[in-house]
Amino acid sequence: MNDVIELLKKHRSIRKYKPEPIPQQELEQILLAGQAASTSSNIQAYSVIAVTDPERKRKFAELAGNQQQIVESPVFLVWCADLNKIHIATNLHEDVELQQNVELFLLGTIDATLAAQNATIAAESLGYGMVYIGGIRNNPQGVTDLLELPPLVYPVFGMCVGIPDQEPDIRPRLPLAAIYHQEVYKKDGLEQEINAYDETTRVYYATRKGGGKGGEQESKWSREMLRRFKANRLREHLHDFLTGQGFRLR
Ligand SMILES: Cc1cc2nc3c(=O)[nH]c(=O)nc-3n(C[C@H](O)[C@H](O)[C@H](O)COP(=O)(O)O)c2cc1C
Repeated sequence: MNDVIELLKKHRSIRKYKPEPIPQQELEQILLAGQAASTSSNIQAYSVIAVTDPERKRKFAELAGNQQQIVESPVFLVWCADLNKIHIATNLHEDVELQQNVELFLLGTIDATLAAQNATIAAESLGYGMVYIGGIRNNPQGVTDLLELPPLVYPVFGMCVGIPDQEPDIRPRLPLAAIYHQEVYKKDGLEQEINAYDETTRVYYATRKGGGKGGEQESKWSREMLRRFKANRLREHLHDFLTGQGFRLR
């Protein structure tokens, strides 16, 4: 093993932070590391917006379903897929409309995600903790208004970053055999792997320190998946929101 792999395997989301700010120079190093991530055809179709103003963080926390960690974290980063920059670049030469489809939407979303995860690793290597906040997609229009996003930009997720003020246990993942296949997708044996993971998560929640179990969270992973996906389709408003922001999803 090496230090990078050790660091990656120590990841756990942090939801309580000390009040100390992140020095601007360190934040920029974190974001530069984010920018070093691979990007589809070098299109770099993302932007990140740092929010530190307490009142604004409070509004984002509310929009994300009262997620207090946003208020507590010294910096709240909002990672956006951004086709606006490409629109501007192409229009330096010709007055054209971007030829959009689901693929272009995905490129922006993937680019934002890769940069964010690179930034995560950089932040963790400096001793910071973080948590992604998909909750901002509960009210993407509210977030868009607060950030004054132009058309062709949408908030993919937020990210709280700060010095950890808690030490939660590392959350176990599925057995490698449940995600790793050789040559072709192995359909047999997945139930067994999931059963094994259910037992792992049951023991984890029974003995976990320093994080607390999320409110309604089920202790078995498969039951938690059932709870989440049986009755509701998630965030049904997203299609109309994205279309309104100028994305064409076809
Ligand atoms: C795209 C994305 C969105 C997430 N949104 C939230 C969120 O809104 N609130 C939260 O507390 N955690 C959020 N998380 C954190 C996950 O719950 C967490 O990563 C997962 O349970 C695994 O735990 P770990 O990060 O501690 O290993 C999000 C994670 C990802 C990747």
